[in-house]
Amino acid sequence: MKTAVNYSRIIAGTMTWGDWGKQFDTSEMARMMNFCLEVGISTFDHADIYGGYTTEADFGKAFSGSGISRPDIQLISKCGIQYPCENRKLQVKHYEYNSEYIIRSAEASLTNLRTDYLDLLLLHRPSPMMHPKEVARAFDALKAGGKVREFGVSNFTPSQIRLIESETDLCANQFECSLTAYEALFDGVLDDCIIGKRLAMAWSPLGSYFREDNDQNSRIRKCLADLGKKYEVGESQLLLAWLLQHPAKIYPVIGTTTRKRIEESLKALELNLKLEDWFAMLVASQGHKVP
Ligand SMILES: NC(=O)c1ccc[n+]([C@@H]2O[C@H](COP(=O)([O-])OP(=O)(O)OC[C@H]3O[C@@H](n4cnc5c(N)ncnc54)[C@H](OP(=O)(O)O)[C@@H]3O)[C@@H](O)[C@H]2O)c1
Repeated sequence: MKTAVNYSRIIAGTMTWGDWGKQFDTSEMARMMNFCLEVGISTFDHADIYGGYTTEADFGKAFSGSGISRPDIQLISKCGIQYPCENRKLQVKHYEYNSEYIIRSAEASLTNLRTDYLDLLLLHRPSPMMHPKEVARAFDALKAGGKVREFGVSNFTPSQIRLIESETDLCANQFECSLTAYEALFDGVLDDCIIGKRLAMAWSPLGSYFREDNDQNSRIRKCLADLGKKYEVGESQLLLAWLLQHPAKIYPVIGTTTRKRIEESLKALELNLKLEDWFAMLVASQGHKVP
């Protein structure tokens, strides 16, 4: 693995902790952070835009009063999306990756999160207007200033990764991956993580399973009902174990803020699916046998 930082195998996504979801107040957020740490989740996934550029600051305020010491957690954040909202009066949503903007954005994340450094900074979405030299210049400056330990991307294809890697190393890619959205298994994204020794992080690891009623999810539901009895576990554990067993060593970024569900997510680490059962889940999702 290219990463030197020890990220927890299950990562807590903070996208819905604040204004975009649960609207935790400062003490609720601090309690949630402490709870995550107690159960074994030490890595927190952020992006500058979460909550319309407000969640990092809410988290930072909670962190500063939480009693948690900085080396005990790992902070990931992302930059590059220019998102029109109350805090940013823009005409058009777009991406920005010139080196000054990346540096300014990372520094704002540090201020908001009340920390001296990020463990990992990701370029949030690929832009047709990005240039690897601009990205490299920003990464070099942030690294030299001790402001960011490691760098990666999110939602990048292998060729977009090659483009940025022509000038600077990328330790990680974070992309959508789940039993219902399994494209990364077949489009080269996971292959690239193995070949490039990149940390593979899966966002929305439960996919549409708990969000949508459709034919795919009814097929999966039947399969999970059988496997749930066989392994004596719940549906979300099966969905996460399916990802965890992939040879790219996927790190799921979970979004739940429900304590019981967070605890159940960690139990997926103990589940060892038989190869045939792994494929039974894929077949249920795809709706056809493998060729
Ligand atoms: N890099 C990117 O472009 C990108 C994009 C999207 C997200 N992310 C990251 O990924 C994280 C996770 O994304 P996500 O929230 O989509 O992930 P997820 O873990 O797949 O979904 C979490 C959602 O599922 C619900 N849920 C979980 N277990 C359930 C159950 N047993 N029954 C019913 N509902 C259940 C949760 O509700 P409760 O909270 O009520 O339990 C929550 O709303 C985000 O926080 C963010 O950090 C990154």
